[in-house]
Amino acid sequence: MVSTAPLKTSKSEEIFSAAQHLMPGGVSSPVRAFKSVGGQPIVFDRVKGAYIWDVDNNQYIDYVGTWGPAICGHAHPEVLQALSAALEKGTSFGAPCYLENVLAEMVINAVPSIEMVRFVNSGTEACMAVLRLMRAFTGRDKIIKFEGNYHGHADMFLVKAGSGVATLGLPDSPGVPKAATQSTLTAPYNDLEAVKKLFEENPGEISGVILEPVVGNSGFVTPDAGFLEGLRELTREYDALLVFDEVMTGFRIAYGGAQEKFGVTPDLTTLGKIIGGGLPVGAYGGRRDIMEMIAPAGPVYQAGTLSGNPLAMTAGIKTLEILQRPGTYEQLETMTHKLITGLLAAAHETGHAATGGNISAMFGMFFTDKDVHSYDDAKGADTEKFSRFHRGMLEAGIYLAPSQYEAGFMSLAHTDEDIEKTIAAACQVLSNL
Ligand SMILES: Cc1ncc(COP(=O)(O)O)c(C=O)c1O
Repeated sequence: MVSTAPLKTSKSEEIFSAAQHLMPGGVSSPVRAFKSVGGQPIVFDRVKGAYIWDVDNNQYIDYVGTWGPAICGHAHPEVLQALSAALEKGTSFGAPCYLENVLAEMVINAVPSIEMVRFVNSGTEACMAVLRLMRAFTGRDKIIKFEGNYHGHADMFLVKAGSGVATLGLPDSPGVPKAATQSTLTAPYNDLEAVKKLFEENPGEISGVILEPVVGNSGFVTPDAGFLEGLRELTREYDALLVFDEVMTGFRIAYGGAQEKFGVTPDLTTLGKIIGGGLPVGAYGGRRDIMEMIAPAGPVYQAGTLSGNPLAMTAGIKTLEILQRPGTYEQLETMTHKLITGLLAAAHETGHAATGGNISAMFGMFFTDKDVHSYDDAKGADTEKFSRFHRGMLEAGIYLAPSQYEAGFMSLAHTDEDIEKTIAAACQVLSNL
């Protein structure tokens, strides 16, 4: 029997209400504030495996996984052990460290497009840096991005940026100068014709195309057959670069990311989340001739006090080691497929229109009877119903991302029993919606 009694959340409420006087909106990152689903966010106390506990000691099965990094399960014992050994040697060197070579080699061996890599501290930083590099390499200023794709919060990407921006209903952000976004052209996701048109209208001016090869920031949206291949051809035809933002998909939908899964190799790739194993890391990499433009090998400046941090490298290395073990991606695919199939069946059996799917350990569901190929399609889904579903699931002990415009994440720690409990909870919540 799944509990749907109202949660006891008095400590969460007390802490969150104090937080609102201390930090804007009470949070360190906007989507955490539950603005799109309503109600108060819960305040976490601890995480382990597939579970989180809040400060009132409620336990939840977690499908957010700290927004992606926790693919091996939270606080994996081997990651913790490696971290405590690394901690003995100090927390930051600000100088070359052998662990950077180890993680760099692992990333280069895994991701088809990456011949050289630069470590940074977040996905945002990786995307900012890659944009500078695209412009420097091609000598062109304009870029094409897709509606509902998120590439971090840097000025030039805050145009139709999906996810948190969509959640808050901010089409753009105040404080972003027009000059910063005037070189950012946008096209609907999965619309090759629109991309072709932009290339035709801006001859010799577009440095490249950046995209989420599988979208997580409009909810879960997959590339139509031929879309990634078409972008590869168009960028070649117009002498522009193709950049996959694999901050979310890297090491998640396959060990080598979307580029391995779909067999399309971009020129440059951004990474984050999983490669830091839960510590702050981002990275960008790609063709050697392009990457050698980065300082100090070349003239394109980019730096970071904490970049290549030994603790972050350690957590990333151990996480990738675990992911390399036989059967991990098969397990992730089987479990995630079982979950999403069960959730969709629960919705249909209780009379709700719903669509969705998964690729490996990334999944999503929309309350709509139409297929979702783009951000506009995603906006057509019933977000109000999603909010009620989200609240019901929370009260039944299931932690889903607090926005319709986010993907869900499976980990190696989730068990069959967790999935069965989740589906049972969904049946009960959906039948009461
Ligand atoms: C595809 C993608 N790119 C970039 C980012 C930004 O990464 P970060 O939050 O580490 O700055 C995110 C964050 O969710 C993302 O999903």
